[in-house]
Amino acid sequence: MAQTQVTVPDLGGIDEVEVIEISVAQGDAVNEEDTILVLESDKATMEVPAPNAGTISDILVKVGDTVSSGTPVVMMDGAGDSSSSVVEASAQETVEEKAEPVIQTQEVAPSNGSGESQEIPVHVPDLGGVDNVEVIELAAKEGEELAAEDSLLVLESDKATMEVPIPQDGKLVSFHVKVGDTVSQGDLVATILASSGAASTENKPTEVPAQAPAPQTVPAKSAASAPIAKEPVTSVTTTSNKGVHAGPAVRKLARELGVPLDQVSSTGPRGRILKEDLQAFVKQRVNNPVAAGPAQVVGSDEDFSRFGPTESVPLNKIKQVTAKNMVQSWSTIPQVTQFDEADITELETYRKGAMQSQLPDGVKVSPLAFIMKACAMALKAFPQFNASLGPQGQTLIQKQYYNIGVAVDTPDGLLVPVVKDADQKGVIELAKGSAELAAKARDKKLPMDAMAGGTFTISSLGGIGGTSFTPIVTAPQVAILGVSKAQMKPVWNGKEFEPRLMLPLSMSYDHRVIDGAEAARFTRYLCELLTDTRNMLL
Ligand code: COA
Repeated sequence: MAQTQVTVPDLGGIDEVEVIEISVAQGDAVNEEDTILVLESDKATMEVPAPNAGTISDILVKVGDTVSSGTPVVMMDGAGDSSSSVVEASAQETVEEKAEPVIQTQEVAPSNGSGESQEIPVHVPDLGGVDNVEVIELAAKEGEELAAEDSLLVLESDKATMEVPIPQDGKLVSFHVKVGDTVSQGDLVATILASSGAASTENKPTEVPAQAPAPQTVPAKSAASAPIAKEPVTSVTTTSNKGVHAGPAVRKLARELGVPLDQVSSTGPRGRILKEDLQAFVKQRVNNPVAAGPAQVVGSDEDFSRFGPTESVPLNKIKQVTAKNMVQSWSTIPQVTQFDEADITELETYRKGAMQSQLPDGVKVSPLAFIMKACAMALKAFPQFNASLGPQGQTLIQKQYYNIGVAVDTPDGLLVPVVKDADQKGVIELAKGSAELAAKARDKKLPMDAMAGGTFTISSLGGIGGTSFTPIVTAPQVAILGVSKAQMKPVWNGKEFEPRLMLPLSMSYDHRVIDGAEAARFTRYLCELLTDTRNMLL
């Protein structure tokens, strides 16, 4: 069986392009013209198709590589009839795009020679023999100031997408076409007002309109040898945008914004993603960060070993996921922490005294179980704390179940198992439930669903120490209670200072949902429940 080395076709005068997508894997069977990989210059996206049917035996480049005409990209065991061992991918009968249209600028003489601006018509450039291409996007707004080479509009034939850029710095006066029009080489598409003094030095001033800076494509050496640029299949990730339908300008913007195009809903003709679709996507993500998924954790690439010895310790999965969730929650939720202290003197007297005789064998009840009980009651009394913000922040979804997550410190990192229906459980059951979950978390035996569905979280560092801390609200919840170590304090009772056991509470809340006064009332209510546990019976 003949082996074929597929090389990058003639790029029409462009020196280097980037491999932005590899559309096949080793061992894949491909048909003639199936896309093997996608290349991109700063203005155009091109597919490199299989020159014949066969099987991909080796991939010689990777995403991010820069390649030139003639660079070998894949090896194929060919079923094709090529007897040659090296096949330029585009050396087929399919004729397509001559790279991107790049306007060669011409200096335009000010009409009165005084440095004033001058109107210039912009025409459709040489399209490499293709007629009747569709205007699929007006990439600028009339009246908008643009810099040379900014995209004015995007054209699309059935196989290629091309930007028509503005030839020089200036203002877009008007378009002479609209989306959906078909145009051919030489058609007038826009008028611009050149900024005074803005022009290249390539050409000397000539008479203006008719010969004005006629856009031209960079001449391809041979149309037949130019890359086939079917539907551009660029990608902001690496492979997930296969089949995405969008012009280079949108793709560039998507890359700049870090938007995965395959997640954007399209409203353009034939499913094409427009700039407006990108804007709508970004707006939706900004307003509904929960749907946006975990944020990126940006570490430091500084070489700290310049200052002394270092050791790079890999972070396990739990720590990495926690980091992403924390970045996401911290950066998207405007949060505030309300501090208070509960007098738990009586509670602790009861817990350590009379209660002990009530406990089943082997069951330990720490203050945490009482705090969970009090939280379940407070959440019922203040439903906005047992809630999530709905899409675009237009609704508050109040949950009628009370599932309390308990942050557990494990050797591998922080896990938050959830005690379901905490409102329906007594203190002993809550103590048993949370202890069992904490033990499973530490033994790595926690099933995934044990961490799902929480409506509120408690992070208790009381067993360790500390006076207070600010826990981070984790989306989509809207509040979290931090518990620190109870301490004896002198408390003024109106006549004298009394020694009382005071439990520090730190209640962080999502300020989009909860007002400060509500947070203060909620926390106070919690304190009252804990101060006199008879309140929990009411
Ligand atoms: N004040 C004073 N003492 C407290 C206390 C408080 N707020 N909370 C607990 N204690 C005491 C307990 O009564 C217990 O005392 P004992 O041994 O005399 O009975 C001791 O501290 C240890 O308690 P602990 O084992 O921590 O049990 P707990 O029920 O309070 O907590 C967990 C259970 C799972 C929450 C806890 O073990 C844990 O992992 N905490 C860390 C949570 C965390 O990492 N949060 C940070 C998130 S950012």
